[in-house]
Amino acid sequence: MTHLYKSVPIRSSEITPKEVFLSRRDFIKAAGVIAGSVALAACAPEAAESTSESTTNDEVRPVFADELGNPANTYEEITTYNNYYEFSTNKEAVAPLSKDFTTAPWTVEVTGMVNKPKTFGVEDLLSMFTQEERIYRLRCVEAWSMVIPWNGFSLASLLKEVEPTSDAQYLRFETVYRPEEMKGQGSPFYPWPYQEGLRIDEAMNDLTLLATGVYGETILPSNGAPIRLVVPWKYGFKSIKSIVKIELTDVRPNTLWSTVAPNEYGFYANVNPNVDHPRWSQASERRIGELTRRETLMFNGYGEQVADLYADMDLSLHF
Ligand code: MTE
Repeated sequence: MTHLYKSVPIRSSEITPKEVFLSRRDFIKAAGVIAGSVALAACAPEAAESTSESTTNDEVRPVFADELGNPANTYEEITTYNNYYEFSTNKEAVAPLSKDFTTAPWTVEVTGMVNKPKTFGVEDLLSMFTQEERIYRLRCVEAWSMVIPWNGFSLASLLKEVEPTSDAQYLRFETVYRPEEMKGQGSPFYPWPYQEGLRIDEAMNDLTLLATGVYGETILPSNGAPIRLVVPWKYGFKSIKSIVKIELTDVRPNTLWSTVAPNEYGFYANVNPNVDHPRWSQASERRIGELTRRETLMFNGYGEQVADLYADMDLSLHF
C-alpha cells in the first residue's frame, strides 16, 4: 500500500516554517524534482521567489506533497479560503471574522453507546494520542479542492479509549453552539448546531483523522480550531469543524446538510465523479492555485483504503 502519511510523531524541527515553504509555482519551477520525494534543498525566506539555482544547500527540508505527488496548498490558501457557515457564507470573510474565536478552554464529550464515556480536554487529546502528519486532498462538494498537511490523530485511537458497545453503529458529531461569537448561527436558514455523522466502520478506518494542526502550526479558527474531523474520501462538508460532542448511537444521525437539502447532500457523500450534484457536475474540480481543472477521482483517490466499506452498495444511488 502506498504511504499516505508519516506515522511517526512530528518533530517540530522537521516542519518547514510556512514562511520558507516554497510557493506552488516555485516548487514546480525549482523542481525537475518529483513532488513526492522526501527532501529538497530549501530556499531561505528572502529567496522564496527565486529558482533552484539560487538555493543554498545547507538545510534540507521536507517537501509537502500528497502520495500522488500533488504539492500541498500554501498555508495562506488553506487558512484564508474557507467554508465555515457559522462565521460567514463568504469564504474570504471566514478568517477575519473567526480570528478571535475562543478556543480554550475546550472539551469534547464522547458519549452514548460506549463503555467508558468521557469528556476530554483538548490538551489531554494532544498528549494521549500520537500526533501524526497526514497530507490529504480535500474535495469540496462545490467542486474545488486543496491538498492540506494536517496534524492530528486517528479517530480510531479515541474510539479505542472509550470502547464502543456492540450496539453502536454510527457516530454523531456536533459543532459548538455559540451564537454570540458565531454570528452565522443567527441565520434561521440552518438547523444549528452543525451536525455530521459517520458509520462506525468509516469512523474506525485508519484514514479518518481528528485534526488539531495545519503545517505543524496549531489549527486556526478558520480551519475548525481547536479540533475538527477530516474524512478525505468524502466531500468536505462531512469534515465537521470545532467539535464539542461525539455520540455513539444505533440510529443514523441527521446531518445539517441533509436536513437542509436532502436531495442534494446525502449521508454518505463519498466523492464520486460519476454522480453529479443536481445543480452541477462532479466530474472535475478546480484545485485552488491551479488554472486548469482536474478530473475528480473516485473516493477522492482513496479507493484502495475505503472501497471495501461500500462493497455491497450501489454507488450510483448514493451521494
Ligand atoms: N463545519 C462546520 N461546523 N461548519 C461549516 O460550515 N463547512 C464544511 C466543512 N466543515 C463547515 C464545516 C465544508 S462545506 C467544507 S468544504 C470544509 O469544512 C472546509 O474546510 P476548510 O475551510 O478547513 O478547508
